[in-house]
Amino acid sequence: MRGQGQSPIDAAGIDPRALESLLAFWADAGVDTTYEDAPVDRLAARVRPPQPTPRAAAPQVVARSEQAPAIPQASSQGPDISAAIAEARRLAAECETLEALAAAIAAFDGCGLKFEGARQAVFARGEPNAPLMVIGEGPGAEEDVQSLPFVGRAGKLLDKMIGAAGLTGRVFITNTVYWRPPGNRTPTPQEQMVCQPFLERSIALVKPKVLLLAGGASAKSVLQKSEGILSLRGRWFDWTSSDGAMTLPAMPTLHPAFLLRQPGAKKRAWTDLLMLEERVDRPERPG
Ligand code: URA
Repeated sequence: MRGQGQSPIDAAGIDPRALESLLAFWADAGVDTTYEDAPVDRLAARVRPPQPTPRAAAPQVVARSEQAPAIPQASSQGPDISAAIAEARRLAAECETLEALAAAIAAFDGCGLKFEGARQAVFARGEPNAPLMVIGEGPGAEEDVQSLPFVGRAGKLLDKMIGAAGLTGRVFITNTVYWRPPGNRTPTPQEQMVCQPFLERSIALVKPKVLLLAGGASAKSVLQKSEGILSLRGRWFDWTSSDGAMTLPAMPTLHPAFLLRQPGAKKRAWTDLLMLEERVDRPERPG
């Protein structure tokens, strides 16, 4: 029996109150993420194979620990994501509205990020018929809470940049992946590939004139480039949809989170935005 005032030591010999106090200390010190000692092979991330999506299925309450059992599929090339991509394509093609697309993304189980601690899917915000689409990397902590992209510090800076370029209210904002990567790590190319059919469908539905790719992870994935953002930024590329039906001008630029860390780079982002604004407002050629 334990006497009053004694610490409730659990079976593993850990005092929960001491643990709580230690965690509070780390949180006060600004530590909001924990890592394991051993590195995790993200290429071997778990991907749940697509399940047939029952139409009008009754809502289910599923405990987090019961979601998406780990299905080991890793090979030396990483997990086999082809089935998940095919399922994403099929679901995306069925969506005739952005609302339907948001619902399809939220119900999709093929991206491993959904089961790595994200609270909910984060799809998009902004004008459904915007001439400009901004594509970021992936949701962060604040986006994960609000289920909206670019609403944290980097998002506030992005809004200011868009405002300074005279484009407020003329933008649709989304990301290459729809769930927060744990610890805000960069999404893997596999995670981005699985989400890509939804991204393409959102471009097809919004029909923007111009794409702005925020940061290297977005630019490399959307344009299939291997160069770094410092060489890609400020240049125009043609983005073409995977079925070849749509081509749009796309410009990579520095990510606002990078600009928060390196304010000296804002000048370069500003020159990118001036080119962007000119292109958005350039009159369409007839025919
Ligand atoms: N960074 C991104 O790339 N996307 C967000 O939604 C937020 C931060």
